[in-house]
Amino acid sequence: MRSLRWAVALLCLGVAPALAQAGPDAALLERGRYLGEVVAACGACHDRFGPGLRPIPGMALAGGRVFEERGFRAVAPNITQDRETGIGAWTDAQIAAAIREGRRPDGSLIGPPMPVESYRGISDRDLAALVAWLRTVPPVRHAVPDRSTYAFPLVAHGGPVATVPEPPANDPVERGRYIAVNLAHCMDCHSAQLGEGRADPNGRGARGLVIEGPWGAVQAANISPHPTEGIGRWTDAQILAAITGGVSANGRPLAPPMAARGPVWARMEPADLRAILAYLRSLPPQER
Ligand code: HEC
Ligand code: HEC
Repeated sequence: MRSLRWAVALLCLGVAPALAQAGPDAALLERGRYLGEVVAACGACHDRFGPGLRPIPGMALAGGRVFEERGFRAVAPNITQDRETGIGAWTDAQIAAAIREGRRPDGSLIGPPMPVESYRGISDRDLAALVAWLRTVPPVRHAVPDRSTYAFPLVAHGGPVATVPEPPANDPVERGRYIAVNLAHCMDCHSAQLGEGRADPNGRGARGLVIEGPWGAVQAANISPHPTEGIGRWTDAQILAAITGGVSANGRPLAPPMAARGPVWARMEPADLRAILAYLRSLPPQER
């Protein structure tokens, strides 16, 4: 009885919801925020940008960035919690299906460069974490003007994903593969390209995507352990400086696709960065 009265009092004060959030869900939400804001950096594509590709304050995840490649012109949608212009009216399961299966609630398919093939490998727990985090993103009213257009039919990415277990905690190469391939989608850019926005899983680490922007056209470098074509002779510190500081081994500042993510990836947990290093060093050397 006494605890009930306490509960009612707390509820009236608005304390109960805060207490509820401090429960086990708080860890899931923290994980989701870390994945969404830092490792996967969803905002690199889904933020609203102004001239020179500078993010507009207050417009996080509000969409509108245009990606033009041979074969498509894609526009990143608003993924804030706004019910009309964002995904606020979608259920958790619908948001999860969009991320991991590339399917919208109306059944239409989501095309590149949304990295669906990579996200198909996101673990059940991390997917739930991302959805929990997206639910906390403040709604921003921004109707993205254009729809994406593709000169090729979108493929269904292999249908529903039943379940994906956590990667082994004690195997840095496997954890690094999970982070670099599935979460940070490094290998979407840093792999030989099959066209139609798809990376070749057999060409991981090879010279990859050519990205055009206000900075000109740059090609994602060979980051396999090849001694001359790749980063085989780089020290760990040099590789980390490229990922978290946006500078190449010779001190050259890297173009925005890397440089813009540097400060974001600098917030990655040291163990995650070490796992990425272990994975990159484990790749077969690529000649190109
Ligand atoms: C490399 C750029 C890129 C990254 C990184 C990216 N997205 Fe996307 N995303 C897109 C584009 C472009 C589309 C729209 C594609 C289309 O129109 O078919 C999209 C579509 C979506 C949609 C469907 C929304 C709608 O209204 O149709 C959701 C949800 C989504 N992304 C969530 C995420 C989340 C969550 C992350 C991070 C874990 C993320 N995206 C990372 C580019 C990206
Ligand atoms: C959106 C595409 C994209 C993503 C995602 C991406 N990169 Fe890059 N990366 C590039 C491009 C483009 C360059 C070359 C930039 C330049 O030459 O100025 C580059 C350069 C690099 C370099 C420097 C290589 C050299 O020879 O100077 C390293 C190392 C690197 N990336 C590692 C990574 C890692 C690790 C990840 C994931 C954590 C990642 N990249 C994610 C596009 C990307």
